[in-house]
Amino acid sequence: METLKIFCPATIANVSCGFDVLGLALDAVGDEMVVRKRSEKGIRITKLEGQKLPMETHLNVAGVAGLALLEQSEYQGGFDIEIYKKIKAGSGIGSSAASSAGAVWAMNTLLGNPFSTAKLVEFAMEGERLASGVAHADNVAPALFGGFTLVRSYHPLDIVQIPFPSELFATVIHPQIEVKTADSRKILKTNISLQDGIKQWGNVGGLIAGLFLKDYALIGRSLQDHIVEPIRSILIPGFDDLKSGALQTGALGCGISGSGPSIFALSKGDEMAQNVGESMKKTYRDIGVDYDVHVSKINAEGIKILD
Ligand code: HSE
Repeated sequence: METLKIFCPATIANVSCGFDVLGLALDAVGDEMVVRKRSEKGIRITKLEGQKLPMETHLNVAGVAGLALLEQSEYQGGFDIEIYKKIKAGSGIGSSAASSAGAVWAMNTLLGNPFSTAKLVEFAMEGERLASGVAHADNVAPALFGGFTLVRSYHPLDIVQIPFPSELFATVIHPQIEVKTADSRKILKTNISLQDGIKQWGNVGGLIAGLFLKDYALIGRSLQDHIVEPIRSILIPGFDDLKSGALQTGALGCGISGSGPSIFALSKGDEMAQNVGESMKKTYRDIGVDYDVHVSKINAEGIKILD
């Protein structure tokens, strides 16, 4: 196999209570990439459509993640990468993660899988370091493993796959503004109170237990963020109205997707997730904010090969 065409899913990081540690992969939205082996060493971004992003290897997240893999590989050749962006940069659903994870996953597959998925997470995190200044794994891990993932530890890296109930659906609305992860990290406090910590880790444990037990009510009660959401929500137009509308409609929970400005909700069943989407659209229509909406089941596989 010399060439691979793949789908790289969008992802929701943090999932309210799990800043930098929880994430899930989506099915209905993602990028496409074509990765091709070549005899010359190194990585070349040969095409980049859909977004205005740098094509120089060292300035492109797929390029940087790919170089991290090549550095540890015995392969003497290189790769050409075409990127077809469907995920908008700065939308909060893992645009940089999709490119970083997609590049290393395709390269590893073309090389006959010399690296484990956990190792691919490490390579892809280099793309995240370039994009946001911090090598966080909560988008690249679900993109690579699929489903829900927990970063149990960063040093050493320890990723845990979390099972989830099949009726869990996500709704994501993207107000048409761009928020750079690097900027939305700068406004966060570097210390938290013990009281906030107690609430937050109670919810992380509750969410994980709810996912294992298929207990939708427990999942809903646990989708709360006492630390990051109160600060970042200020950057998002209509956040409070949109969230209360989604919860009144019947969403289990609602919060900021990754570093925003997208807002996500989780619901039981596709129909409820669609209704939540309608409620979110109405809120934004009423206040005159342009948006994109995605309703998606959770993507259990992560990155997929396309024909
Ligand atoms: N955990 C990261 C953040 C995710 O919230 O900054 C960025 O998509």
